[in-house]
Amino acid sequence: MPLIDGNAIAQQVLQEVKTRVAAIAPVVPHVAFVRVGEDPASVSYVNKKQKTAAEVGMKSSLQLFPETVTREELFAHLDALNADPSVHGILVQAPLPKHLPETDVFNRIAPGKDVDGFTTANIGKLVQELPEAFAACTPAGVIELLHRSGVKTAGKHAVVVGRSLIVGKPASLLLVAKGTDATVTVCHSRTADLGEITRQADILVAAIGKPRFITGDMVKEGAVVIDVGINRIPDASRKTGYRLVGDVDFDAVAPKASLITPVPGGVGPMTVAMLMKNTLRACEHAIRPPSVSFAS
Ligand code: GUN
Repeated sequence: MPLIDGNAIAQQVLQEVKTRVAAIAPVVPHVAFVRVGEDPASVSYVNKKQKTAAEVGMKSSLQLFPETVTREELFAHLDALNADPSVHGILVQAPLPKHLPETDVFNRIAPGKDVDGFTTANIGKLVQELPEAFAACTPAGVIELLHRSGVKTAGKHAVVVGRSLIVGKPASLLLVAKGTDATVTVCHSRTADLGEITRQADILVAAIGKPRFITGDMVKEGAVVIDVGINRIPDASRKTGYRLVGDVDFDAVAPKASLITPVPGGVGPMTVAMLMKNTLRACEHAIRPPSVSFAS
């Protein structure tokens, strides 16, 4: 049951990003973070993203708002970031309070600075397989893990469990896109006979957000299993009082899998690495826009 080492593969990606960042000096890619409220997971994710940005030689900034921020205040800040040529990437950390619908907020970000890939424009570009599309970082990280681990994807049956905007839907688009060429089935909470379908997967992507939901009997012998879940479960033996588990019952599934990602240390580090890659691309594009194409 060889493990896919997400930390090692993320480090490879980050090294490549760092080299490209150095090559565009004196321009410094700048990613602007926006966090609303004090959700502990969001605090720790944004900290990690800022620390990694510094490690690859990028600038980052962070604007904090209280949960009570109005839509107008938040939008005014996003408009200012959109208009600021020294800002190349903008990321509003989810989840957001109920009075700020996530799609409205994400769509306020200029598509060329949408390094999260959550705007309607970027999702359309992803569907159209346009080279300038920013793909959402977690599913982009899943594809990078597969390719860099030597997994053959063309013609394979990839089953995605989960249909979220952040992971399931973009993951299915990336898996079916030219160059990856998988045959894709997307399952979700209303799927009938889920196990029947997941057992057909050559590549199983679990992104349902339920701890250890994928059990041993749901996986085919020899499948490649990518666990996107990051769930906190109570654990009195830990100082923090919790530990992280994935959406896959690792102990039961690992013996059947030909390759599997651990949690933590699988997909998680890739999300951050792909954010850095998207920010670098946004910056490269801003300073050296591709020549105008007259193709229709
Ligand atoms: N919340 C959980 N994952 C993500 C992510 O990839 N981007 C943003 N903006 N918020 C998140």
